[in-house]
Amino acid sequence: MPNNKAQVLVARRIFPDIVERLRAHCEVDLHDANEPLPQAELIRRLQGKQGLFASGTERIDATLLDACPDLRAVCLMTVGYNNVDLDACSVRGVLVSNAPDVLTETTADFGFALMMAAARRISESEHYLRRGDWKQWRVDLFAGADVHGATLGILGMGRIGQAIARRGALGFGMPVIYHNRSRLPAEQEAPLAARWVEKDELLRQSDHLVIVLPYTPASHHMVAARELALMKPTATLTNIARGGVVDDAALAEALAAGRIAAAGLDVFEGEPTVHPALLQCANVVLTPHIASASVPTRRAMCNLAVDNLIAFFGGGVPPTALNL
Ligand code: DGY
Repeated sequence: MPNNKAQVLVARRIFPDIVERLRAHCEVDLHDANEPLPQAELIRRLQGKQGLFASGTERIDATLLDACPDLRAVCLMTVGYNNVDLDACSVRGVLVSNAPDVLTETTADFGFALMMAAARRISESEHYLRRGDWKQWRVDLFAGADVHGATLGILGMGRIGQAIARRGALGFGMPVIYHNRSRLPAEQEAPLAARWVEKDELLRQSDHLVIVLPYTPASHHMVAARELALMKPTATLTNIARGGVVDDAALAEALAAGRIAAAGLDVFEGEPTVHPALLQCANVVLTPHIASASVPTRRAMCNLAVDNLIAFFGGGVPPTALNL
């Protein structure tokens, strides 16, 4: 009897039991490593395969699609999909799915934690202590900015932005302002007393600015030298979106010159490389793109990508398709 199972490449190491779940439905070729496949190798491994389990690091563009004519479905375990040329997939009839919702609260927790760490100088003071520099208690020792009651500014009011706004408004009594292409409906703004403002107003008024925008050509360097110059010298900036939304070189300059007080960054232009000037700044908390990295959430993200593959190749409706 011919084997009619779809052939799927899992392009990185994931949880073994989730690979087994997929294997019950598809023939699986697992790239069982944390290092991403080089593009040529990715294309080679995709020959004759109909499905791809991917993350935010594989580049899915027209060249790859043309070189892999059997490919029918690209299922991402990430919510961000700026690494996928969605139009090129759509015109070739290739399904793309991402993993929204399952990471919203975990990512918002982390964004809030980074913002607090930047405001209260947690990283900087820990390094000071570990270096053995703590000789005495001082009134002004690592005195930072308050979070409670301060104005929370959110750039990008999607699901994660709203989850951060809830934490700020309901948990910390923060007035919330936001900028987004579209305003939230009044019934969503009201419980948070959230107020839409123009982008420049957001930059001027925020005590703590959190960036949660998807990365697109339109959002490239949306926060650069001009925008940083509008911010309060006491303000913090937290980026949990994508590196390219912020001009990292300009941010490093602003931090070094004290034009803003501090930053919390989980994403970087050109990551995993980090701009060397940022590494020199004491007033920035740096983490390696882990905002969604709780064990239950990373499992849920992988399972959702697998749900999409199983549904698609089983003739069902993929739950989080982007282009159906
Ligand atoms: C996402 O899901 O987009 C996170 O940033 C992990 O890449």
